[in-house]
Amino acid sequence: MLQVLEAEGFGFECVSQGEIEHLFRVLPKLAPDRVLFTPSFAPRGEYATALGKGVFVTIDSPVPLRQWPELFKGREIVLRVDPGFGQGHHEKVRTGGKGAKFGLAAEALPDFLDAVRASGARICGLHAHIGSGIHDAQHWHTVYAQLAALAEDIGTIGFIDVGGGLGVAYDPDADPFDINAYATALAEVKATYPQYALWVEPGRYLVAEAGALLLRVTQVARKQGQRRIGADGGMNALMRPALYNAWHEIVNLTRLADAPGEPAEVVGPICETSDVIGRQRRLPDSTAEGDVLLVGHAGAYGAVMANRYNLRELPQEDVIDD
Ligand SMILES: Cc1ncc(COP(=O)(O)O)c(C=O)c1O
Repeated sequence: MLQVLEAEGFGFECVSQGEIEHLFRVLPKLAPDRVLFTPSFAPRGEYATALGKGVFVTIDSPVPLRQWPELFKGREIVLRVDPGFGQGHHEKVRTGGKGAKFGLAAEALPDFLDAVRASGARICGLHAHIGSGIHDAQHWHTVYAQLAALAEDIGTIGFIDVGGGLGVAYDPDADPFDINAYATALAEVKATYPQYALWVEPGRYLVAEAGALLLRVTQVARKQGQRRIGADGGMNALMRPALYNAWHEIVNLTRLADAPGEPAEVVGPICETSDVIGRQRRLPDSTAEGDVLLVGHAGAYGAVMANRYNLRELPQEDVIDD
């Protein structure tokens, strides 16, 4: 996937040293200026490694500059700003506003600029990413305009990065993300501030629909009137429903011709009540042990969040390349 994206001309945003090292293992010839490191409360060593590799490094508090000024002397840095609000499909994916750990609050800017001066660093870009699963294209217009105004005050800014967060229609009946409205919203601000390069960080939008999780039915049981369809993977294989009540389509591939049946809870094998992949799904009444269930739109925040809780094996991944 990384090779495909690289060939398409994308850059890469990494959040850990492990991601940076993996990226350069897969793409050893990648130019460092196509990589942005956006750590969150990472240890000193990760900043040192990233700066040593020459990738762009995002900072969202004066603390790293004050604690480790020797790392930043003579370096260019990217400032991650919290525009003061968060947005997204669930409160746990909103990365802006007072309750979120990310981003520099506007009132802390003078202190941050002092720390930049004292450390001998220089701010070359502004960054904001304030949530995931956003459908309103005006959102990026607002963020872009806010960052551009700030860029004028700072004076050394070459690019503005408005983050990702582009929504995906998980429900087949929902409207798809309006990519044209998104492009128009960004183009409007770009016309006002042509002096800044524009960066965007689409994540989910690029890969969510490209992945599916296949599970096998283990048991179909009934308790006090509620039908439950058990599967051989649950929150260990796909954490999103347990983590933020995310909705994924579930289809019984073995019984595509059968009519929708009585609503059932589709559950995994993990020892948690939250181990539910889908609630009240009208899977066919004929659903039985051994059937194959397809869980749709599992390409983003799917396998990468899979875990070995209860010592279950990680799901195997296959790429179908036609
Ligand atoms: C800094 C940053 N940029 C971009 C993204 C991608 O977000 P999305 O997948 O919602 O587009 C994330 C996701 O966590 C992020 O933390």
